[in-house]
Amino acid sequence: GKSASVPDDDDGKPSGKGAVAAGGFTILSEKKLFLGQKLTVLQGDIVKVTADAIVHPTNSTYHMGGEVGQAISRAGGREFQKEIDNLKSSQPAIDTAEATMCPGHNFPAKFVINCNGPTWKADNAQGLLEKAVINCLKLADSKNLKTVAIPSLGSGRAGFPKQTAAQIILQSIRNYFNTTASSTLKQIYFVLFDTESVNIYTSELGRLDS
Ligand code: APR
Repeated sequence: GKSASVPDDDDGKPSGKGAVAAGGFTILSEKKLFLGQKLTVLQGDIVKVTADAIVHPTNSTYHMGGEVGQAISRAGGREFQKEIDNLKSSQPAIDTAEATMCPGHNFPAKFVINCNGPTWKADNAQGLLEKAVINCLKLADSKNLKTVAIPSLGSGRAGFPKQTAAQIILQSIRNYFNTTASSTLKQIYFVLFDTESVNIYTSELGRLDS
């Protein structure tokens, strides 16, 4: 019979549900978009993911008090805090829905994309979340990155309903890739903490037009 795992993809790397990716995470669901980029659902701690960059949802002043921010801060320690301090000296504030990038330390991801996403109570919260996601991808592309890991942006401290946030994030990414032929990005990992978010992303990914 057909093996449950690891059909080799055209990039030679294992892909598809059941395969292992990003340094030991099981692929729970995956969709390949029109131009070939893969959107891949994983479950676990984003700090443990091997990717070119992980996204840190933060505020305008690089506060590491969100749920993912606390995990990055704990793992990254002083070396990572120093990178944030350096970044702040050149880019003291992150505008709403904008993102900045610095090197990672003490975890596998090479870079951290700090993204000032909106809270659910902000005016035009949905439009700003869309803009924030697109700005993260633009920044990753400007640095020629291939893989980026994104948490369930908006649905922790920022207070978005999980399904609303997931729909906005998935549609924004799909729209970005389908209108940006020159992207260097090949794969986006959605690294989700709780099983409810895994189920929401999996069903929304299934419904997303590629
Ligand atoms: N790895 C992956 N996901 C995680 C982890 C982890 N280690 N820990 C928590 N999560 C999940 C949460 O369950 C939540 O669904 O990440 C999601 C996003 O949570 P937050 O990091 O709180 O992000 P967000 O909701 O966008 O809020 C960021 O925090 O710094 C403040 O004010 C700032 O508005 C900003 C907010």
